[in-house]
Amino acid sequence: MVQDKIIKKDCITMDLPTNPEYVSVARLTVSAISNTIGFNVEEIEDIKIALSEACANAIRHSQKDTFSLHFEVEDGKLTIQVSDQGVGFDAKEVKEPVVEEMKESGLGFFIIESLMDEVKIDSEVGKGTKIRMSKFLEDNK
Ligand SMILES: Nc1ncnc2c1ncn2[C@@H]1O[C@H](COP(=O)(O)OP(=O)(O)OP(=O)(O)O)[C@@H](O)[C@H]1O
Ligand SMILES: [Mg+2]
Repeated sequence: MVQDKIIKKDCITMDLPTNPEYVSVARLTVSAISNTIGFNVEEIEDIKIALSEACANAIRHSQKDTFSLHFEVEDGKLTIQVSDQGVGFDAKEVKEPVVEEMKESGLGFFIIESLMDEVKIDSEVGKGTKIRMSKFLEDNK
């Protein structure tokens, strides 16, 4: 009998207040999880920056008191989902950053996309925002 390979997935969920003080909790948590999967120091630093940007967006833009983090740990892969049930936004309104006009803001999504392997952003005005990002171990790419 041919048996399908069973892919084990561990899930961790946490809700955080939309207070910048708690970004450090998110960073420490993802650092520990990434270390367990086997990411190296540079990769863990990249994951922490990407997660911090997503948390900063929920904190700054959602207009809600809390937001959620969901981590999915698979063999050689980490997926992080950052979601809020806040004001949301219209993706058509968000412009790509222009290098010549690099200013202090509007870079969060650009940074996340450049540091993670897969990124999916879902947002609906009045409903909230969900960003899902994955990173693979080098051997699993
Ligand atoms: N969780 C969210 N809720 C509501 N709107 C959001 C959310 N995340 C992003 N946005 C919208 O998308 C825009 C682009 O986000 P992005 O992170 O790229 O830039 P920024 O947050 O404006 O600036 P920066 O991240 O560089 O400080 C934001 O200005 C905001 O309008
Ligand atoms: Mg941002």
